[in-house]
Amino acid sequence: MDRFVIEGGKKLSGVVEISGAKNSALPIIAASLLTDKKVILENIPDVMDVHTMIELMEYLGSTIKFKKNILEIHTPKIKRVIAPYNIVRRMRASYYVLGALIAREKKAMVSLPGGCAIGPRPVDLHIKGIKALGCDVDIEQGYINARCKNLKGTDINLQGPKGTSVGATINVMLAATGAQGTTCINFAACEPEVVDVANFLKKLGVNIRGAGTNQIIIMGNWCPNEVHYRIIPDRIETGTFAVASAITSGNITIKNCEPSHLVAVLEKLKEVGTDIQTKDGEIIVKGNKPIKPTDIFVAPYPGFPTDMQAQFMALLSLAQGTSTIKETIFENRFMQALELARMGANITLEGDTAVIKGVKQLSGAYVMASDLRASACLVLAGLAAKGKTYVRRIYHLDRGYERFEHKLRMLGARIKREKE
Ligand code: EPZ
Repeated sequence: MDRFVIEGGKKLSGVVEISGAKNSALPIIAASLLTDKKVILENIPDVMDVHTMIELMEYLGSTIKFKKNILEIHTPKIKRVIAPYNIVRRMRASYYVLGALIAREKKAMVSLPGGCAIGPRPVDLHIKGIKALGCDVDIEQGYINARCKNLKGTDINLQGPKGTSVGATINVMLAATGAQGTTCINFAACEPEVVDVANFLKKLGVNIRGAGTNQIIIMGNWCPNEVHYRIIPDRIETGTFAVASAITSGNITIKNCEPSHLVAVLEKLKEVGTDIQTKDGEIIVKGNKPIKPTDIFVAPYPGFPTDMQAQFMALLSLAQGTSTIKETIFENRFMQALELARMGANITLEGDTAVIKGVKQLSGAYVMASDLRASACLVLAGLAAKGKTYVRRIYHLDRGYERFEHKLRMLGARIKREKE
């Protein structure tokens, strides 16, 4: 297993280029199953989850070439309609093939993803949506088994107990492309990744509107075009580098990003005392001491993203005063708190709220990553800590950050990867 060794205390400076959004790339790759024509995708991040999705696509019948962040996909014929457990258990986003296979083949068997380090993650809304389109769905031997004669457009309400669902919105959007008539998704998620998938579908030839609002309308009956599409920049990678600058009192320029996708995150950075300047496709982040405390309320887009709260927890551990983070989407997503405590952070968990009393200094320690964003949090803490931090189990981080340590080294960080 690989681990990072970080020698903290270096202010980051320089320029970093952001990669394509993992959470757009994964559903758009799956959406390529909707067509027998060739699809070319640019700005695909070279991360583990993308390789897992490629493995699944090849298993289903796609021919794939992946080089220099350009992915070519061709699926003249679907060979199998099964997403097996040994792939889905490695990456939940495999479930995006459910919507695409139903639209194209009118049947799909997708393993249930099961448990997850960040809390219970049910798929009831995905199932509700495809049932509403006319599918019979059974759960058999750990698989969602969905089939139908025809899909029929209808009104679907995707409101869940925690608000909207990104995954269910996209899966139902994909399934609805195969329906006769019009589908109207109410309580749709508004995340930029949902909009990116919708823009890809438009290029493919689908008549879809409303993405980015809570109501998305999809018309069936369309003819596929060959598509050449560029994925949006990763807003969470952007935010992670912004926090890296803030926590090290650095001065970095983040290029190839989309500042308008990060309004809530940049507002919070300003609130804690960071200087932020945005231009077209670029953000300049200058960290300042002292870091001021703040209160964060996680919410669906355009609220503060759950995928950024762990990174802010590292930052607020060093604030002058007490901060809180209320996590309203994934109740178990505070695993990083206990590891941060090993580095000297003062954090108490009260249900869905973390109370963070700022300390003067974090100190390097052996810490263990539990999921993708928790890993990023520990790396950020290590960059600011005194002494050496060893972040173990970084395979979590490799799932979603492209050449993370390389990009950090280019900014002056002392970080290396080594085998345990
Ligand atoms: C996506 O997960 C992202 N993953 C997550 O990013 C992100 O944290 C999350 O959206 C929220 O923004 C991908 O895009 C691949 P949801 P998703 O369905 O779609 C509940 C990362 O670090 N819910 O929007 O699975 C659910 O339990 C990852 O990159 C139901 O109740 O999240 C949660 O409380 C981790 N029933 C809430 O909705 C359902 O059928 C929002 O989840 C589906 C979801």
